[in-house]
Amino acid sequence: MISDKRIAIKFLLVILFRVFVLGDAQVRCIEREREALLSFKSGLVDAYGILSSWQSNECCEWLGVECSNTTGHVTTLKCAANLRGKIGSSLLELHHLKHLELTRNDFGGIPIPEFIGSMKQLQHLHLKSCNFSGTIPPQLANLTNLRSLDLSGNDFGHFPVPEFIGSMKQLQHLYLWNSNFSGIVPPQLGNLTNLRSLDLSFNSLSSVSSFIRGSALESLEILGLSYNQLNGLIPDLRAFSSLTDLRLRRNNFTGSIPLSIGQLSKLQILDLSYNSLEGLVSESHFIMLDKLKSLDLSFNSLNLDTSLNWNPPFQLSTYPLPTAVVPNCWEKMPNLGYLNLANNSFFGEIPQSFGNLQQLVALQMHGNGFSGELPLNLRLCQGLRLIDVGGNKLTGEIPTWIGQLHEMQFVNLRRNKLQGSIPPEICNLTRIQVLDLSINNLSSIIPDCFNNFAILASKNVTYVTSVTFATSYDINGNEQYQYSSFQWKGKESEYSKNLHLLKLIDFSSNRLTGNIPKSFSNMRNLNSLNLSRNSLTGYIIPDIGKMETVNSLNLSQNQLSGKIPTRLAQIHALGVLDLSNNNLSGKIPSGTQLQSFIASAYAGNDGLCGNPLPKCPEDRLRPSATNPGGNVNAKDDSSLSFMQEVAISMVFGFIFGFWGVIGSFTLKKSWRISFFNLLDVIGDWLYVRIALFVSKWRRN
Ligand SMILES: *[C@@H]1O[C@H](CO)[C@@H](O)[C@H](O)[C@H]1NC(C)=O
Ligand SMILES: *[C@@H]1O[C@H](CO)[C@@H](O)[C@H](O)[C@H]1NC(C)=O
Ligand SMILES: *[C@@H]1O[C@H](CO)[C@@H](O)[C@H](O)[C@H]1NC(C)=O
Ligand SMILES: *[C@@H]1O[C@H](CO)[C@@H](O)[C@H](O)[C@H]1NC(C)=O
Ligand SMILES: *[C@@H]1O[C@H](CO)[C@@H](O)[C@H](O)[C@H]1NC(C)=O
Ligand SMILES: *[C@@H]1O[C@H](CO)[C@@H](O)[C@H](O)[C@H]1NC(C)=O
Ligand SMILES: *[C@@H]1O[C@H](CO)[C@@H](O)[C@H](O)[C@H]1NC(C)=O
Ligand SMILES: *[C@@H]1O[C@H](CO)[C@@H](O)[C@H](O)[C@H]1NC(C)=O
Ligand SMILES: *[C@@H]1O[C@H](CO)[C@@H](O)[C@H](O)[C@H]1NC(C)=O
Ligand SMILES: *[C@@H]1O[C@H](CO)[C@@H](O)[C@H](O)[C@H]1NC(C)=O
Ligand SMILES: *[C@@H]1O[C@H](CO)[C@@H](O)[C@H](O)[C@H]1NC(C)=O
Ligand SMILES: *[C@@H]1O[C@H](CO)[C@@H](O)[C@H](O)[C@H]1NC(C)=O
Repeated sequence: MISDKRIAIKFLLVILFRVFVLGDAQVRCIEREREALLSFKSGLVDAYGILSSWQSNECCEWLGVECSNTTGHVTTLKCAANLRGKIGSSLLELHHLKHLELTRNDFGGIPIPEFIGSMKQLQHLHLKSCNFSGTIPPQLANLTNLRSLDLSGNDFGHFPVPEFIGSMKQLQHLYLWNSNFSGIVPPQLGNLTNLRSLDLSFNSLSSVSSFIRGSALESLEILGLSYNQLNGLIPDLRAFSSLTDLRLRRNNFTGSIPLSIGQLSKLQILDLSYNSLEGLVSESHFIMLDKLKSLDLSFNSLNLDTSLNWNPPFQLSTYPLPTAVVPNCWEKMPNLGYLNLANNSFFGEIPQSFGNLQQLVALQMHGNGFSGELPLNLRLCQGLRLIDVGGNKLTGEIPTWIGQLHEMQFVNLRRNKLQGSIPPEICNLTRIQVLDLSINNLSSIIPDCFNNFAILASKNVTYVTSVTFATSYDINGNEQYQYSSFQWKGKESEYSKNLHLLKLIDFSSNRLTGNIPKSFSNMRNLNSLNLSRNSLTGYIIPDIGKMETVNSLNLSQNQLSGKIPTRLAQIHALGVLDLSNNNLSGKIPSGTQLQSFIASAYAGNDGLCGNPLPKCPEDRLRPSATNPGGNVNAKDDSSLSFMQEVAISMVFGFIFGFWGVIGSFTLKKSWRISFFNLLDVIGDWLYVRIALFVSKWRRN
């Protein structure tokens, strides 16, 4: 304790000594430069007290001021934001100033002061958003040591970019965006061979071609020319071999995308959106772009021309290319077998020309913004086996012609705005395995024709051809599976390899009325049935027990009435059951697996009772063997009868087992001896096993 105190006191003394005795002796600031800074400050209106620290003798410690720690000269001046007034020429006294940054101040709309051109030693000049206007003084041409120059966010009055910037040979970063420059990008900028970033976005530049043609800026990594008025063809950028970021958004480039873009092997961001580009975008455009992360070609008139099994060399983290309307020109791809446009931002109607895709096997358009009706011509795609248009904004009715697509196995119309009734023609799809019409606005009764669904009715687990259908091959001959999202046990998941094993019907969240059709019970091979959240009435079909393979059954939120059929208990595969919020009544069939579901599976049915819900009234009153008084607190009826059975078998078991063995032992000595020897052996064996298990478990 004492030594701690001593150390603390010593420490305090040292600090006091430093502050009061050494004090000024530490000052590095050169007085002449301090006065220059104060003079600079006096020209400014500092409404927010930003320069309040600019008082002490030690100017090197003022906010925004940095000095050389060997010579004490001011090397950096950064006064960023919220000052107004005049830039005093006293800054010329700062002969060693290398870094001058005055961004986001308001210098009243005057031109950049000429004297700045005399600060030849400057390496970094940042005058972004300083409310400068007019022409840029030619004196700045003298700043040949500049490494970075930022004049963005000023108003240089629609004048051209000064040619003399091309003489600042050391420049690595040049930012001139949003500064009201017009005309051509001067070819002289092509002399800036050290340039790494050039941003000229948000100006009124009309041409970049003479700059790009004359230059080979091999170190240029970032080229921003978005939001200008550049027109003509996109120039050949092959000489810009270090480009990682190329942005030409919102110009007026015409013609097709040059193949030379595909040579820019370091490209990570490519934005050509909002131009007047047309023609084909092919695989060769991307041949060397294996680093591409963001690609935007939207709002042009481009057509994607890539083969089905194209394996792009890149993996995008953002991919807004298909923000677009799907072009109506599919007649040009008569051999297309598999089309996946899922999870994009496509909108508009599904084109009629899809009808020309006579070889089409799978059409996946899940998760877009498609609207309108399913196009009539789609009925011509007679080979279709999978159609997934879930999660769009499709309207109209489910077309009757869907029944003509006889090969169909997987239909997903989930989460659209379809209305009308389920057409009976749908039952012509005898090979159907998945029929998901959930979350629409379908009304009227469910047609009673589900005995037609041969695959769902057949005990044969898979439809043989579905296996080959689900497989395709990529360029390298590797097996590839097509994906589709389907709802399974309340979760939307992707299915690929095992798609052919899925057998489900989901009509949930519609406005369907009437009874559950009797023919449902024919679907003996179904895995999952979801009819929840409709307005179905009537009984649960007694034959439901025939659907032996149903693993998940959701009939909740309807107006089903009557008893729960006992045959429901015969479905041994049942893992998920929800009968809640109906008008079901009577006793839950007891002594079955129906008791293994939690009470909420039966909740919201006023007339329903029995385990796992509270006891039925008649059971409360009925006396029984172990509970002669019919006590209300007694265990549930079903478990009582179960317990009775157990008790009875125990009694008989005891009599026959115990007395059978003991009786024999009493009578025969040799049996007695061998029995107890065997017990010893079993005991030893058990001991060793348990010890081994325990030590193994501990190690883990
Ligand atoms: C002084 O400057 C040099 C070079 O700029 C730097 O490496 C060093 O860390 C500085 N020393 C102090 C005490 O700031
Ligand atoms: C620029 O300065 C002019 C003249 O003082 C003033 O009218 C204008 O509001 C300023 N503009 C900005 C963006 O500060
Ligand atoms: C600075 O540039 C101007 C105009 O380009 C020129 O006349 C002048 O001689 C230059 N001054 C210095 C010190 O180089
Ligand atoms: C650009 O400069 C012209 C000419 O001074 C002027 O009329 C125009 O308003 C400026 N545009 C912008 C966006 O500042
Ligand atoms: C700078 O570029 C211009 C135009 O591209 C060219 O004519 C000139 O020779 C170049 N100057 C230097 C010093 O490289
Ligand atoms: C773009 O170029 C086309 C063809 O040259 C022209 O018709 C159109 O007006 C231009 N659009 C703009 C916004 O400059
Ligand atoms: C579509 O998006 C969903 C949800 O983000 C995702 O689970 C699924 O894998 C995507 N499907 C495809 C084909 O990209
Ligand atoms: C399709 O279904 C309708 C209505 O159920 C039926 O009249 C028609 O005969 C069926 N067509 C074929 C080819 O099975
Ligand atoms: C559902 O369809 C009915 C007509 O059957 C229509 O009146 C109603 O507006 C639709 N609801 C929605 C949410 O689209
Ligand atoms: C079931 O499969 C067997 C052998 O694959 C086949 O012979 C039989 O016809 C199939 N039955 C049905 C109803 O498809
Ligand atoms: C049935 O569908 C409803 C709504 O469409 C969904 O919330 C629920 O998870 C599904 N249940 C099962 C068991 O699939
Ligand atoms: C059954 O469907 C309803 C709504 O349609 C849903 O809220 C519920 O969670 C589903 N039950 C199960 C067990 O998934």
